[in-house]
Amino acid sequence: MKEFDKVIGYDAIKKELMQIGDVLKNNESYKKLGVTAPRGLMLHGDPGVGKTLMASALMEASGRKAIICRKDKPNGDFVKALKAAFKEAKETAPSIIFLDDMDKFANGDSRRRDQEEYVTVQSCIDNIKGKDVFVLATANDIDVLPSSLLRAGRFDRVIEVCNPRGDDAVNIMAHYIKQKKCVGEIDAAVVARLLDGCSCAELETAINEAGLLAGYERADVITMDHVIKACLHTVHDIPNDVLNRGHLDVDIYDANEQVTRVIWHEAGHAAVAEVLDPGSVTLVSAYSGNKSSGGFTSQYNNGNNGIIEYRMADVCISLAGKAALEQKFGITDIGVSRDLEQAFRTVTMLIGGCCSGGFNLHLDRFENPDETEARVDPAAAVEIERLYRKTKEILAKNNDLLCGIAKALFEKSYLTAADIEKIKSNCRVVLVSL
Ligand SMILES: Nc1ncnc2c1ncn2[C@@H]1O[C@H](COP(=O)(O)OP(=O)(O)O)[C@@H](O)[C@H]1O
Ligand SMILES: [Mg+2]
Repeated sequence: MKEFDKVIGYDAIKKELMQIGDVLKNNESYKKLGVTAPRGLMLHGDPGVGKTLMASALMEASGRKAIICRKDKPNGDFVKALKAAFKEAKETAPSIIFLDDMDKFANGDSRRRDQEEYVTVQSCIDNIKGKDVFVLATANDIDVLPSSLLRAGRFDRVIEVCNPRGDDAVNIMAHYIKQKKCVGEIDAAVVARLLDGCSCAELETAINEAGLLAGYERADVITMDHVIKACLHTVHDIPNDVLNRGHLDVDIYDANEQVTRVIWHEAGHAAVAEVLDPGSVTLVSAYSGNKSSGGFTSQYNNGNNGIIEYRMADVCISLAGKAALEQKFGITDIGVSRDLEQAFRTVTMLIGGCCSGGFNLHLDRFENPDETEARVDPAAAVEIERLYRKTKEILAKNNDLLCGIAKALFEKSYLTAADIEKIKSNCRVVLVSL
């Protein structure tokens, strides 16, 4: 169905939507078989993942009249508008009623599931039973919706739309790059990795921002450099003046300087990540957004979360910022609460939930939180100590890599995967088993 051409990737979801579109369009052939069409579909997922885009393709494909409802009126008026929309849908059947961003309908108190708007939707859906009206809805957060509303018979199909990954992300990026007129050598796969975990809307915005930067510079073409700066600016909230500053104005060996500590901390994360999961680092910066004084190291999520060695590697990568400052300057890095929280969470999950420390420590932290804490926490602390020593060993054996990344970060203030590759090609990477 050509209506779905504008939705790039998401083949499995598109296939399901096309099938529903066919049922809605060619209802008679299905009726002959004695089957009834699904009554409703809910598409849910984070903002910007393409729920509205997919819903509009389905509406077009169905060839039916669509009545669209979005919360654009105060509560009382909106309830009236909802009732009127359902009435129109019933009168013009076969039709579709589209409830976009349904979790925003009761914005007075979205946690109260008995809000008038939801009660209205539910009774309106029940009222159109037996009529040929398909109810299509989207929501960012279905947890705020009453479960009775989501049950089969009202929304027979519930489909989660996630952020694009792998080939989908690359193809969406390539699609948006193609839409810009003058583009230099931009590799869609590299940009997609750089924006790993972002929504379709964020991918679209990043390439447009890159174009705006190029326009402001009166450049002839949009380059990779513009794209990287746009990513740093739009996704990581780094001010443009920082990005254009280049060389950082600090003494890279003076641990009294805050920026120096951040540089070595991030270099630690990046170096250990590259030893344990080569090629995974996409972006390192000594700056993060306006409100934070720290930097960040982004890694591509290679989908290996279910493999224990990768989870232990994650712990070492989290601890590596602290380890780098201890190793380099003999100081205790105190800006590490988030790193430690992450490390403890992973280790606790491995020991308590996955029995990595033996079956006697298997506990359900939801059923038995106190006992879990009392028994698993000491074991987790021992494991963290062990992995911290491993992390320091990795850094000691890969000091050239650590120093290379820190120096480059000082010179450029941010590093891409290509920069890291270059640094790695000039030093010997020594593997350490965990
Ligand atoms: N699969 C996709 N292919 C191409 N563009 C997409 C895709 N998904 C989303 N977009 C674009 O991203 C933006 C946000 O999509 P939208 O459907 O409004 O997201 P949502 O409803 O989930 O918040 C739109 O400009 C849309 O065209
Ligand atoms: Mg939407």
